Amino acid sequence: MIPQAFIQDLIARIDIVDLIQRYVPLKKTGANYSACCPFHNEKTPSFTVSPSKQFYHCFGCGAHGTAISFLMEHAGLGFVDAVKELAQQLGLEVPEEGPALSGTEREQRRSLIDVMSTAARFYREQLKSSPRAIDYLKRRGLTGEIAARFGIGYAPDGWQSLDKAFPKYDDSGLAEAGLVIDNEAGRRYDRFRDRIMFPIQDARGNVIAFGGRILDAGEPKYLNSPETPLFEKGRELYGLPQARVGIRETGTVIVVEGYMDVVALAQYGVNNAVATLGTATTPTHVQKLLRQAERLVFCFDGDKAGRKAARRGLEASLPHLADGKTVSFLFLPAEHDPDSFVRERGAEAFQLAIRDATPLGRFLLDTLAEGCDLQTAEGRAHLVHNAKEFVPKIAAQVLRLQIVRDLAAAAQLSPEETSAALGLAPPPRPAFEPFQKGDWQKGRFGKKSLPAPEPRVGVVPLEQQLLRILLARPRLGDKVPLALVDLLPETAERATVMAIIDACEDGTLLDAPLGAWIEHFRDSTHEAAITRAMQSIEEGYVDESKLEETLRGLLDRLELQAVETELKNLQIQVASGRADNSSAARLGSLLAKKQKLKSGQTV
Ligand code: GTP
Ligand code: MN
Repeated sequence: MIPQAFIQDLIARIDIVDLIQRYVPLKKTGANYSACCPFHNEKTPSFTVSPSKQFYHCFGCGAHGTAISFLMEHAGLGFVDAVKELAQQLGLEVPEEGPALSGTEREQRRSLIDVMSTAARFYREQLKSSPRAIDYLKRRGLTGEIAARFGIGYAPDGWQSLDKAFPKYDDSGLAEAGLVIDNEAGRRYDRFRDRIMFPIQDARGNVIAFGGRILDAGEPKYLNSPETPLFEKGRELYGLPQARVGIRETGTVIVVEGYMDVVALAQYGVNNAVATLGTATTPTHVQKLLRQAERLVFCFDGDKAGRKAARRGLEASLPHLADGKTVSFLFLPAEHDPDSFVRERGAEAFQLAIRDATPLGRFLLDTLAEGCDLQTAEGRAHLVHNAKEFVPKIAAQVLRLQIVRDLAAAAQLSPEETSAALGLAPPPRPAFEPFQKGDWQKGRFGKKSLPAPEPRVGVVPLEQQLLRILLARPRLGDKVPLALVDLLPETAERATVMAIIDACEDGTLLDAPLGAWIEHFRDSTHEAAITRAMQSIEEGYVDESKLEETLRGLLDRLELQAVETELKNLQIQVASGRADNSSAARLGSLLAKKQKLKSGQTV
């Protein structure tokens, strides 16, 4: 963990224009700088860098972010390496670890890693002297070479075999590492007995957990390490260190369900597969993988469970999609998993299937249309209703636009109507639309840019508008009463607005550039809402010269809503004869307040 304060300091000191200039020739245009976008192919510049915000954005492909994001996306660095690189440029030392990980915690991690590596070595040794285990792996088609590459081992069939591997079997580290179980009677025994052992490694190759498969039939088929200080299931992927080179060479990562799938694919020369660990794919998984690969292909078993897993994969992907990255889904024939498929049909057939996997957009639309009769108005409305939960979560702006268009076609609406129904900003102004057939006849070529459209106030929900204003100038959060925010519907946007107000109260970020705020919320649950709002701002849906006025108007409208709700309740009381003197007085003052708010005065 790098301390937040250090990251804020870094963003405050680095000049994003300087940094990007080293990779991309920038031209000054007004207050900002522009260039042809380094993240997609284009002939006219739509990439802009703002020194005041410490933020870049491309109108063409939607790429955007801070100096740290730029190094991650452009130079392919991980977050920590990007921070180190920037620190080095500034001559700063990156503080080793944040207060989150104290000295003793670090020591504990270190000693658990030692325990796990000792166990892994022991299990590997044991495999050599177990003809039964070797025979099992051979029957499953694995060579010694692949077994060694994945560090596969064997846990012998005894209650306390690890006693031979460790000087002290009663060491507390063995229990903390999840290798042994202490029963109620105070007796300790090995968790893994008579199982093929698959070590799970972190990105640096440390063994952090094991998956153990029973040799014959039996329950449970797989036994996994419990969660420990080293091992958090929703973050880790099996086979990642072994797949790194394959991923880099192909630009593609394949996500499968099982340990054996990863190993069998590697046996057949498919070296870019990883597995989730018996859990559903998480957004963290997707984020991790899309940093390393341009293309992610989910390959699930052809059964019902596989389809369900695919839907989870779909949901986990939406917030991390980026234009220029693709996510697709391969469904194997019902009787197959990747292991059996590659054995029966060979690597070439598997690679072809991967190549032809269903793109996310198609799979999403198919999923949304499930059970909707598109021949009827009700069915088409149902389709749009289903889409509301998913489409706004798509972070990739151009892809989202494409999907809205496809959805519009299926729903027999216009893209604008569809966007409005989904609570999205209207599609971007025509200047950035791809030219269409016949455009030159209509004289659209050569037009530099059209004026920004009027923001369509009625269409965009209040909480989205509020978030946009706060991101355009976060310190305005100080002026927003929490009581009014409470009135908003409970959406991700509202939660993010509250988080910004909280951070304003804390004060440290008040005068920081936008980039620092973006970094403050990196990897938080607010990331997706922030991305959506940022895109709308960059597309000009917020008039940045009138932020305070707009905010005041918005708060007035919220207050008006509150007044109207209270009025309605009071009037019901009056009508039903339950009103007393104080409600009559309240009614009077509310009506006056409503009058004032309506005439546009602030009260
Ligand atoms: P093989 O039968 O060895 O080919 O297994 P597989 O890799 O094809 O596994 P399967 O498709 O049955 O399950 C996929 C993944 O789910 C496994 O790799 C495990 O991570 C997990 N899993 C399967 N069975 C169990 C179980 O009984 N308990 C637990 N905790 N996880 C399991
Ligand atoms: Mn299998």
